Parts: sequence; C-alpha cells; structure tokens
Amino acid sequence: MKKVRIGILGLGNVGRGVWKILNTNKDEIRKRSGYDIEVAKILVRDVNKNRGIDVPKELLTDNADEILDDATIEVVIEIIGGINPAKEYILKAMKNKKHVVTANKMLLATEGDELFQTAEKEGVMFYYEASVAGGIPIIHAINESLTANKIEQVIGIINGTTNYILTKMTFENMTFEAALKEAQEKGFAEADPTSDIEAYDAMYKLAILTSLAFGTKVNVKDIYREGITKIKPIDIEYAREFGYVIKLIAMVKEREGELEMRVHPTMIPERHPLANVNNSFNGIYISGNAVGDIMLYGRGAGDLPTGSAVVSDVISILRGSADVSAISVVKNNFWNRKPSPMENTRSEYYIRISVKDLPGVLGEISTIFGEEGVSILSVMQKGKREDYTSVVYFTHTTLEGNINRAIEKINKSGNVKQIDNIIRIENIQ
Ligand code: HSE
Repeated sequence: MKKVRIGILGLGNVGRGVWKILNTNKDEIRKRSGYDIEVAKILVRDVNKNRGIDVPKELLTDNADEILDDATIEVVIEIIGGINPAKEYILKAMKNKKHVVTANKMLLATEGDELFQTAEKEGVMFYYEASVAGGIPIIHAINESLTANKIEQVIGIINGTTNYILTKMTFENMTFEAALKEAQEKGFAEADPTSDIEAYDAMYKLAILTSLAFGTKVNVKDIYREGITKIKPIDIEYAREFGYVIKLIAMVKEREGELEMRVHPTMIPERHPLANVNNSFNGIYISGNAVGDIMLYGRGAGDLPTGSAVVSDVISILRGSADVSAISVVKNNFWNRKPSPMENTRSEYYIRISVKDLPGVLGEISTIFGEEGVSILSVMQKGKREDYTSVVYFTHTTLEGNINRAIEKINKSGNVKQIDNIIRIENIQ
C-alpha cells in the first residue's frame, strides 16, 4: 500500500470530525484512495489544551511551518477559518507544491481568485467541498455531475443556524430571541451569532455557488443580504394562513439575461420540498435546462458531516494525483457579472404596517400602492392595539422599485406609525 502524509491546520469541531473519520473508516479510505493516510502534524494554538480526543500529543504543533515546510507532507487541510492567517498558509502550502483542501467559505468568497490562480500556477489540486452546505456534495454536483447543463437557478437553505431558529419559531411559536437562545444552548449557534443571523455566512456560500453555477466572478458586496432578526411570530402566522413558510433563502437565477443574486427571509409555498427542510438541515434546489429540477438535502454543519466532505476531498486528490492532467482546479470564472439592481427584482411581497385604526386609512394606503403600480392580492386587518392596528398586504408580482416608491410615500402618511416588515414571496414551483 502506498503511503501519503498529510498536515491539518486546525483541530476544532471539523478537525475532530476529520480525525475520527480517518480512524473509523481507515479500511474504506484505503480501498477507495489506494493510500494509507498518515496524519503527520496538526496545527493548534495551544498544544497543551485538553481536547477530549485521542490525538497523540506529539502530532500537535503551534508552528505552521512544521507543516508548510515539511517536504514529506503532500496534502494540507485548512480548517482554521477566517482570512488571515489561513490565506498565507494556503498560498505557502501551494507554493511548496502541496495539494490543499479547505472548508473556508469566507476566504473562497472574497479571495478565491488568487487561490485558484496560485493552485493552477503551482500545478497543485485545490478542493473545497466543505465550504458550502457541510456534508452535502453540492460543489461536486455543480462542478462535475451537472456540467452538461445550463443552470437556470440555485435556491438554497444553506445556513443551519437560521433554519433551526425559523423552524422553532414555526412549529413551537417561539420568538426569535427565545429560539436563538435555545440554538446557542444546544451549540447550533455561536456565542456571537452575527455571521449566521445577519446572513453573512449564507452570502459567502451563495457567492461560491454562483461563481460555479454561472461561471462568473462575484463581489460579495454586490449581493443583497438581509438576516432574520426582524421576523416576528405574527409574520409566521400570516405566512401560514396564506400557505407559506418563512425560510432564509439564498438564491441566484438568470432572468432575461440578468443575474438575480440575493439572500433574505422569504415566504415559500408550504408544499415545496424546500419548505420541509427543517431544523439545522440544509437543502439546495437546482434547475438545469437538461436535468430539470433536483434537490440535495442533508447536514450543512457538524464535525462528521463537514469532516466527510473534507476527507472525501483528500481522497479525490489521492485518486487524481496519479495523473497530473487530472488537476481539478476550477477555472470557470470567465466573466465578472454584476447582479441586477434590487429595484429590478420581480417578486410578490408581504407588507405589514402599523396604522391608525380610522376610517379611510386602508383606502389611503391602497391608493398609494395603486399609484405606484403595485397590485394588491389581499389585505387583512386583525385585532387592535390601542391606537394602532396591524394591516397586512399581500401583493401580486411587482417590481421592487415600485414597492420602494410606495413604501416611501406610505411612511410619510400621518396615519402610519411604521412599516413593521416586508418579506418577499417566491412561488417556487
Ligand atoms: N454556521 C453555519 C450554519 C455552518 O449554521 O449553517 C458553517 O457554515
């Protein structure tokens, strides 16, 4: 049996998963890769910390160069996350002719270009299946299994933390705050949950998926992003009444030659398969012009699911390394397309407004919508809260620019206390 030595940068949750898989599935990995994988060194911050895992202490180092400069190490796994020093480590590993596997979505979404170019220049392989949706093989699906297609749209629930929170709000009538607290207690949400609940994590993943599915460079600053903090139980109730569920949806689609790319809470039909992706699961729905619609479902985070993607990438490298021409660097960032401005987005909308409960107020607001070309599907008013009441509008499909102009006028009315929430509706078939 041939032997290969690998180095691992980082021994957090995913690192522990990688270690467990390499040990538990040793025989399968041997058969499938044709190699005995030996972990040569693991980079950690503190070699003395007790990690509750059976990694021999002599494998740990706090000096990255013990891995990056070791000529006997052929593959490096980067799972420390963040931009620095992960980027320097990856670049150095590539320059030292090591193949690299990473799970680092933020780095790929913002600096991926330089990494791909360096991998190509140095003739090393660079794999990143774990960067989007953890254990779900979405990168390989787009890069290999669907390459015969023109991809028309990718619609995903690609953040497990927010999906867990929204599921709790939907099925247990929890508030956002209570559901977040529970997610933190159960270890789904981090102590600082900003990246998940404000949808930065989903935005990075969408940038990677867009780049692969539509062959374009993406500047994450161009992606419209909105988190889930404004969702209230009452929004979920109204959604339910109209046959929808609220999910944090990341989507990219081509419409009339323009690319729509956005991440925001969205009402989707309760019968759609994505509506049934609950708890911390992820789901990605892809439409290709040959394959039709497909959906991938599974765990988007966690030590073993993410470790599964990382170790499978190592095996892909070992299988490919026998033949240098099998270098599998993705070089499909042909264009630099900008997403169409949000004013051009066409959607249906749910708009909840606090208004004075007086004669003529509904008429005044409805007139403004009419003036701005927004056609109303349904209006509802429920209950009364002292001087103000909540009115909810569901619109027909309209341009977001029309909605914005109408909202600006509505906000100026003396009868309106505030616009409480606006949620886009995607009637995915
Ligand atoms: N924090 C992410 C999630 C997993 O909740 O899905 C890592 O990207």
